[in-house]
Amino acid sequence: MIDIHCHFLPNIDDGPKSWEESIEMVKIACGDGIRGAVMTPHWIQGTNWQPTPDTVRGLVEEFNDRIKKEGLDFEVYPGMEIGIIADLPKVVSNGDVLTLADSDFILIEVPFYNLPLGIEEVIFGLETMGKTAVLAHPERNREFQNSPRRIVELVGMGALVQVTASSLSGGFGDAAKGCAIEFAKLGVLHFVSSDAHSKKHRTPIVSNGLAVIEKKIGKEAVDNLVSNTYQIINGKSRARG
Ligand SMILES: [Fe+2]
Repeated sequence: MIDIHCHFLPNIDDGPKSWEESIEMVKIACGDGIRGAVMTPHWIQGTNWQPTPDTVRGLVEEFNDRIKKEGLDFEVYPGMEIGIIADLPKVVSNGDVLTLADSDFILIEVPFYNLPLGIEEVIFGLETMGKTAVLAHPERNREFQNSPRRIVELVGMGALVQVTASSLSGGFGDAAKGCAIEFAKLGVLHFVSSDAHSKKHRTPIVSNGLAVIEKKIGKEAVDNLVSNTYQIINGKSRARG
């Protein structure tokens, strides 16, 4: 299993505050059966959370060195969780943001309240560039909670859906849980990730969410979710001995 949405890098957003905590988070992830993770610090235009691709790549490189020194069997990859804006396709083509592990998949943050106008145009614009929008935790958005079927149209336009593992296990309330399970029943759930921010709260655990999917949908659905995560890093993982 690869975690494709999490905040392990220190002092770049609302994630951990030290390399020590980042390493502790890797240990928790390893204990949960996670073999690697795409680092997705927030990138929100016009705020302090707007790291450059080079900054993120530099931290990922340092993190991999530190993980190796600790003797942990884990690899991290560069990425970002990008706040949605109308001209996102242009920002992507300018190279101002990172895709997930240098793939053609782009993690887009879905706000918690209203859906942004023009989300369809952004998905379509990325699609015409050969990029795929991965919608981050839409089950926590009020409009999708009121009407989970609304996501089907966006998936039909080419978007993929990532839900947070602890939404499935009830950590974000009944509405988020119900919505995430409904996405799975509708066949429009593609990734389960931790969205971890620390070693204490919002930890790097996905098995809790996968257990819910296994119970409600079945083992094959879990296998597909796991294999989807490897597609993101396909061909980019270091060979393991
Ligand atoms: Fe996140």
